[in-house]
Amino acid sequence: MSLDFNAYSKENQLNPYPAYDRLRRESPVYYGDWGKDGKFWVLTRYEDIDGVLRNAKDFPNSLGPGLKGMTDDGRPFLVLNGIDPPDHTRIRRVIAPFFTPRAVESKEPLVRDVCNDVINSILASGNNPFDLIAEYANPIASAVIFDMLGVPVSLRERYKAWTEDYITVQGGQGGEKEKVNFRDFYDDAFLLMEERRRNPGPDLISVMVKAVDDEGLISEQEAHDNVMVMFVAGMETTEKLIGNAVVALVQNPDEYAKVLEDRSLIGSLIEETLRYDTSAVSIMRTAALDVEIGGQLIRRGERLMLVLGSAGRDPDQFPDPDRFDVERSPNDHIGFGEGPHACPGMWLARIETRVAVETLLDRMPSLSLDPGQFDESNRLQSTINRGFLHLEVQFDPALVSKRTTA
Ligand code: HEM
Repeated sequence: MSLDFNAYSKENQLNPYPAYDRLRRESPVYYGDWGKDGKFWVLTRYEDIDGVLRNAKDFPNSLGPGLKGMTDDGRPFLVLNGIDPPDHTRIRRVIAPFFTPRAVESKEPLVRDVCNDVINSILASGNNPFDLIAEYANPIASAVIFDMLGVPVSLRERYKAWTEDYITVQGGQGGEKEKVNFRDFYDDAFLLMEERRRNPGPDLISVMVKAVDDEGLISEQEAHDNVMVMFVAGMETTEKLIGNAVVALVQNPDEYAKVLEDRSLIGSLIEETLRYDTSAVSIMRTAALDVEIGGQLIRRGERLMLVLGSAGRDPDQFPDPDRFDVERSPNDHIGFGEGPHACPGMWLARIETRVAVETLLDRMPSLSLDPGQFDESNRLQSTINRGFLHLEVQFDPALVSKRTTA
């Protein structure tokens, strides 16, 4: 097929859905040469992607292209999404208690307070329009993950720049600036661990450090690399999903009206955003054996990009997939992945994004995009994450609710 699909092209990063449609129809298991990232397969059908994710033994995570060359000395980067059982299972066990639905539910009051505080600051600043990502979604996602990690939220700005550069470097893009920032982030994560060692608390970094020092469950490097990934996962995907949910709502006024009428739909609005325009668009796997998928022979050692963003639009799985439907049911999306690597942060992400959208619509029910400022190109350039770096939204001050508690 002469399909000139380029996962890295600006056009595909702005609106990849037409290209995903073509790939699913014409070449659902597509082999491409991605320049310095080498060659890999691109899978776009729900069924194929789901099958690979559930078969973690034959399609391991280690050796993923994005995780090569992330460390100066060439040592493997030991983040959960780059390793396999049994090491993967051992590390996940250490972090798991922080992410159970019960542990996460206890965070809801904090999330609600943070959302209201952030709205109060926006109102006090007089910014209208304001930047939904920088002024709302990021402060919320950061406050929650910083609280969980036991890191002062005053470091937010610094970490924000670093997490964006981490994604760029992991996605095989970026220049010297991003690499230098990645290195600073890398060094700083060790300093944070040292600080928690001296002053341990009930936070995740303290627990990871204890698992290194007292329990011998994980190594220093394993703790360190996963501290880094927690910042990135906790901030980037969550803030981008909040932005994507708001854009989808504003661009689908009938659905917006339904949600304004019935706030109990916000949970399913979030699920629909994870299907329709998810923020974690693609993940990588490697074939551990020769295997056929969709009539294509994939050889042992070859790599696969699983396009979750395309799985969500697959008409064989979702009727009328290009329609954004806040009442869609069933909605068996795989926006949080599937199998042993399924997102451990999914319950936290759900609470954060739901409460963030709820609070926004409660306090600013007239929220809309600023047409003069809305610019699709204000997106993160990444094949991994999808969402806005900046998103100008506006509201009618006469309709603002001054309420500060839910
Ligand atoms: C809307 C927000 C989020 C989305 C869409 C999302 C999506 C995903 C997906 C698709 C994976 C699977 C990766 C793979 O199989 O290779 C994943 C893994 C992961 N996520 Fe999330 N995530 C979100 C929020 C979070 C949050 C808030 C945290 C932590 C605080 C988190 C932590 C992680 C970690 C550590 C992994 C690696 C798990 C592993 O490989 O075992 N995520 N996430």
